[in-house]
Amino acid sequence: MEHIYMDHAATTPMRQEVVEAMMCAMNKSYGNPSSIHAYGREAKRMIQDARDQIALMLGASPHEIIFTSGGSESDNTAIFGAAWSAWLRAREHQSGAERSKPHVITSTIEHHAVLHACEHLEKLGFEVTYVAPDACGVVRPDAVKAAIQPNTCLISLMMGNNEVGSLQPIQEIGELAHAHDILMHTDAVQALGMIELSLNKLPVDFASFSAHKINGPKGVGILYVKQGVAYESFIHGGNQERKHRAGTENVSGIVGMAAAVKLAEEERSDKLVQLAEVRDALWTGLQELLQDRVVLNGHPTARLPHILNVSILDVPTENMLMNLDMMGVMVSSGSACTSGSLEVSHVLQAMELSDERLRSAIRFSFGLGNTKEQAQEVVKRIATIVTRVRNRH
Ligand SMILES: Cc1ncc(COP(=O)(O)O)c(C=O)c1O
Repeated sequence: MEHIYMDHAATTPMRQEVVEAMMCAMNKSYGNPSSIHAYGREAKRMIQDARDQIALMLGASPHEIIFTSGGSESDNTAIFGAAWSAWLRAREHQSGAERSKPHVITSTIEHHAVLHACEHLEKLGFEVTYVAPDACGVVRPDAVKAAIQPNTCLISLMMGNNEVGSLQPIQEIGELAHAHDILMHTDAVQALGMIELSLNKLPVDFASFSAHKINGPKGVGILYVKQGVAYESFIHGGNQERKHRAGTENVSGIVGMAAAVKLAEEERSDKLVQLAEVRDALWTGLQELLQDRVVLNGHPTARLPHILNVSILDVPTENMLMNLDMMGVMVSSGSACTSGSLEVSHVLQAMELSDERLRSAIRFSFGLGNTKEQAQEVVKRIATIVTRVRNRH
């Protein structure tokens, strides 16, 4: 039985070209990029080349690219960095009683790297407003506008949702933020390689990315910080990343990320065609098989091409996941950290879906190696599961 992996939003297989680039980096020099001798200089040059390449691909300047350990660290750095920086500024200009901790706006459909960071900010005395999306999983600019306060310092809104794929109006909300002198952060982890990005033209001050979602290595990511934007560093120590992120750099990971970004950007238009073909074959097949017993979760058109979230109403999520796994199909119930537990997705809950839809939701996410034929095969395996479950009742 062919194994079919349709969980690319959780993580992706590494491209052979990326593995080779990393092997080459590991074999070439083990020097510490901070050392001034030849080996150190060689490692430093590899990082600089990677930074230049990524900046070029994403429409940014090299000094706006900070390497991190992944999407979670990038999100945390942007949120804590902007909030603490605003707090320090407020302390200088306000006295005693009028001092209030700054306010942050985010949404209820963010990844836990953002949500839990914001919850921690609240514990530290900052104010946070969590804006709810509409039933399609889209956060509306007027809802964000209504949440703005005089002490709002940051709006953090993801570019594309990792569970249902809905795209967020980043352009509009970023412009709104800047019109009110508020910094804008976007978690673009799932959007990288799917949407054309020209960071310097976008009204965002921070953007988070992760290599392992684009066929790169795990444990490496990027925080884009627009030139001139002040924020407090999160990790203190040495002078790496121009004092913005201490710690000896993950040289081979950074080289691997640059190779992955280059491939993702160069092949994006072909990939979009492949992904749409797989997604549409699966969705059409499921509709033909199940008719009104399958429902699409998320926006039907303004969405990331690699994510299809559906509720197969007659089969509870865990039951479907377990059966699919036994039949060699790897998918998930939502974000990787909640899969495996019985927790209902916070994103689907925020969209206020019916209990029936909440408890039968499955996320398919597509990528390297997936084909239309695989989508058709998955529909067949689902047909077997649904028949089995229906016969039991
Ligand atoms: C939207 C989003 N943000 C952040 C992350 C965290 O990225 P990382 O696994 O690199 O820490 C993920 C990973 O699932 C994600 O999908």
